[in-house]
Amino acid sequence: MSAILEVSELRLSIPARGGPACPVDGVSFSLSPGECVGLVGESGSGKSLTSQTLIGLTREIPGVRIEGSVRWQPEGQQPRELLKMSERELTGVRGGEIGMVFQDPLSCLNPLFRVDYQIGEVLARHCGLKGKAAFERTVELLASVGVPQPEQRARQYPHQLSGGLRQRVILAMTLAGEPRMLIADEPTTALDVTVQAQILRELGKLRRERGLAILFITHDLGVVAQVCDRVMVMYAGRIVEQAPVKQFFDNPRHPYSRGLLESLPTLSGGGARLTSIPGSPPQPGSFPAGCRFCPRCSLAIEPCQAEYPPAFGDERHSASCWLLRESEVGSRTDGGS
Ligand SMILES: Nc1ncnc2c1ncn2[C@@H]1O[C@H](COP(=O)(O)OP(=O)(O)OP(=O)(O)O)[C@@H](O)[C@H]1O
Ligand code: SF4
Ligand SMILES: [Mg+2]
Repeated sequence: MSAILEVSELRLSIPARGGPACPVDGVSFSLSPGECVGLVGESGSGKSLTSQTLIGLTREIPGVRIEGSVRWQPEGQQPRELLKMSERELTGVRGGEIGMVFQDPLSCLNPLFRVDYQIGEVLARHCGLKGKAAFERTVELLASVGVPQPEQRARQYPHQLSGGLRQRVILAMTLAGEPRMLIADEPTTALDVTVQAQILRELGKLRRERGLAILFITHDLGVVAQVCDRVMVMYAGRIVEQAPVKQFFDNPRHPYSRGLLESLPTLSGGGARLTSIPGSPPQPGSFPAGCRFCPRCSLAIEPCQAEYPPAFGDERHSASCWLLRESEVGSRTDGGS
């Protein structure tokens, strides 16, 4: 199936004290209709800035420079370059074609208007629904994302709802526009597991029924295993590994990915100590030369400090680590390890 979104060499450069910092530094990936791709990595790795840059939300940063390409091609339409769109064109794409649930949901609701009014605005703009039909659809949407007593909640103001409920209202509002793609930045982190499961089920249904493509940003590898088809691991502004979910969990190739997986608690672990990756990720503007994971990597070899590794592997499963180049793999195999 042809990609609905094709991102090539996306780079975001922001002026900083010691010269420009690149919190997103050459990111490439694609997304097909109906596919859910997880974007994971430690705090500060550039996940949110990557997703925001795709839809023009980082254009306002003073002195920013954005390079690369973000090709958007919903089925039956000509491809369009999102990075070259005017703000007006992009506003049409956001909400209508691409929905986004932010990490900070409170900033998305207007405290002055009731929930039904705010969702109703989206329904009127994108689906032509008004009056009773819009209210009924609002109630349906709220119920689908696990809002109890949806009729009553629809008539309330944001301050009358808990944080978890507001997060669900935002998701309902985003889905109201019937987007082709959803960017979900930590959408379920603040929710309890039952509601989280309900939302993940609802998103699964939209993928199957409407071909909704999802870029799912999360810290939770358990959720990735549950809902994603593929996973991309981000470290210091770059994607260091991408793979189908099963391959990733069975055979992670990048030492950083292995570290992330080893930090996961297991049900059978019997209280075993979690291994966490020593040290902390570098800040944009002071990324080390060579492999950016090198200062924390116990497996580093000769070229690691000097040269950034290219992606080794194939289109489905690739990782940027010098240990994966043919001569290394060969020598380790020859050595009988
Ligand atoms: N507007 C901005 N201007 C300059 N630097 C920024 C800006 N927003 C974020 N950063 C920096 O860019 C880096 C990446 O930030 P980003 O928010 O994308 O991380 P993240 O991977 O989403 O982290 P988290 O998991 O904590 O949400 C961080 O070091 C952050 O401090
Ligand atoms: S390239 Fe070298 S330093 Fe980087 S992850 Fe691989 S082994 Fe470690
Ligand atoms: Mg973030």
